[in-house]
Amino acid sequence: MTLPVIETEGLTKYYGRSRGIIDVSLQVERGEIFGFLGPNGAGKTTTIRLLLDLIRPTRGQIRVLGLDPRRDGVAVRRRVGYLPGELALYSDLTGQQVLEYAAHLRNGVPRKEIARLADRLEADLSRPIRTLSHGNRQKIGLIMALMHRPELLILDEPTTGLDPLMQQVLYELLEEVRRDGRTVFFSSHILPEVERLCDRVGILREGRLVAVETVSGLKGVAVRRMDLVFEGPVDPEPFRAIPGVREVAASGATLHIAIQGSLDPVVKAAAQHTVLNIVTYEPNLEEVFLAFYRDDARQATDPRRPTTDD
Ligand SMILES: Nc1ncnc2c1ncn2[C@@H]1O[C@H](COP(=O)(O)OP(=O)(O)OP(=O)(O)O)[C@@H](O)[C@H]1O
Ligand SMILES: [Mg+2]
Repeated sequence: MTLPVIETEGLTKYYGRSRGIIDVSLQVERGEIFGFLGPNGAGKTTTIRLLLDLIRPTRGQIRVLGLDPRRDGVAVRRRVGYLPGELALYSDLTGQQVLEYAAHLRNGVPRKEIARLADRLEADLSRPIRTLSHGNRQKIGLIMALMHRPELLILDEPTTGLDPLMQQVLYELLEEVRRDGRTVFFSSHILPEVERLCDRVGILREGRLVAVETVSGLKGVAVRRMDLVFEGPVDPEPFRAIPGVREVAASGATLHIAIQGSLDPVVKAAAQHTVLNIVTYEPNLEEVFLAFYRDDARQATDPRRPTTDD
């Protein structure tokens, strides 16, 4: 029952002598949205292609839906929806024709579901694929991954090319998948999207899985930057004393603050003065990585690290 939907153990891939991924051990549970986060070249696509047996591991074990994707590739592909990172859909066929063709390879064409998804994503299925823009082609790929309502969705950077409105629609569709008790594994290098959507996040860096965290844990560890603009100069000292505050720099009537964890105590302290503006900056991935490294020693002695500083 509680078998992980995806399980890898010591998964390693070398392309000749160059590193793909090294010793990735990962478990994704049924019903969760798992974000696979890492910068360019970290090994996200490599991992995903290994899960689908599109490439073969140098060493390590893989189970997908309890099956070995190498031996049971057909069964795995029938139960999984996959969106590749580089969607190769150049075709004179229309979107509808391409989707129907793909569906025939499975168990028939889910016309209603295709129509529902096309409506939600505002995808035009009547035009030849080759005439579609990048984002509109991505929508066809998403419908292809979602249309048979698979138990497990594996999506390689699914929001690539989608405008902000369509990204929101995709987030909603993925949340619906989770509500059904189905599972989503998707790669991204966009921290806010992962925070918005995921239950847990794996962080990949230079081919190694450096952390697996709940999103609340990630938020606890991430350092955020904010600027507080006051009516006039304000004494920075009380801000330095706030737990979680890492840096305070004053310039004129503005305080530049770096804080780990909740922003709430800083906002409350700011409210003692007249505030003209508050600007917050999303932490970038590198800052999150650095926060993890800074906490490495703590992690080594206490694997069940608290998610906040207090
Ligand atoms: N076919 C290949 N031959 C040689 N090296 C490869 C090949 N595919 C990937 N690599 C290397 O493996 C590493 C991981 O690449 P991968 O494409 O998995 O990264 P990624 O996390 O998906 O990056 P991106 O965010 O750019 O998509 C990189 O160093 C890359 O150069
Ligand atoms: Mg990739």
